[in-house]
Amino acid sequence: MSSRKGIVLAGGSGTRLYPITVGLSKQLLPLYDKPMIYYPISILMLSGIREIAIITTPQDRQQFEKALGDGSQWGIEFTWIEQPSPDGLAQAYILAEDFLAGAPSVMVLGDNVFFGHGLPVLLAEAASQTTGATVFGYRVADPQRYGIVSFDECGRVSSIVEKPPVPLSDYAVTGLYFMDGTAPAKARRVVPSARGELEITSLLEQYLEEGTLTVQKMGRGYAWFDTGTHSSLLDAGNFVRTLQMRQGLQVGSPDEIAFDQGWIDQNALVSRVNLFGKNDYGRYLAGLLK
Ligand code: G1P
Repeated sequence: MSSRKGIVLAGGSGTRLYPITVGLSKQLLPLYDKPMIYYPISILMLSGIREIAIITTPQDRQQFEKALGDGSQWGIEFTWIEQPSPDGLAQAYILAEDFLAGAPSVMVLGDNVFFGHGLPVLLAEAASQTTGATVFGYRVADPQRYGIVSFDECGRVSSIVEKPPVPLSDYAVTGLYFMDGTAPAKARRVVPSARGELEITSLLEQYLEEGTLTVQKMGRGYAWFDTGTHSSLLDAGNFVRTLQMRQGLQVGSPDEIAFDQGWIDQNALVSRVNLFGKNDYGRYLAGLLK
């Protein structure tokens, strides 16, 4: 079986963050001390993924390439895919079909931030599934805003609905999707929703009907943020700052993860340290060399 590949979906026009995102791509905005997209890339790297497609709009692609390079600084490889118009999350699998070439995948939304003790174990478990799909259910206070999964009395998934006006549960499906190699074919069968998008929930419904959808709950010890509004952007940034200041440990540093995984050597990390100079991020990375 071919090894699992990663996708970061960083398209969209970020209109909910206007006026900030009139001239800047949302997923490159700062989340405290790093560009937002560092966090979802870190999640893929923690899942052991080294081949990653980044889907951006044609207008924003250059900015992303400048911010992220070709991935070699982290011992990984980026492939660039353009999404001309934001026609839904499921469209990512159609756009990435050639890149995936039948391989299983993990897709993460470019504006989603995850944190929690035990996250690497949760990711490894999902990555070890060779057939079907695994997604994560997270309790939220505002379920109308998300894809919502409901469970029957035995705890089995009974429905998955996009932004339901009357939610059947408080469990949102987070923006992290492990799928087998059939995802692009399933994405092609998705019919556009009333809002004109190929909904990820319609793709997941196909796995549910097949009996191959696993929903893992991310319990109350986890933090999951989407940074889609001004407040949630600030909340996520403050969360990262609070943890980092208290613990002296980085959240979502691809540099640290690459070094930990043994994907880059000391010399490669030294050149990153030199690039960041004397700021706190650079000093933190320098500390890893000791
Ligand atoms: C999208 C998905 C939704 C999911 C959410 C997670 O919503 O459609 O199912 O729960 O991401 O961030 P959107 O960002 O398009 O509002």
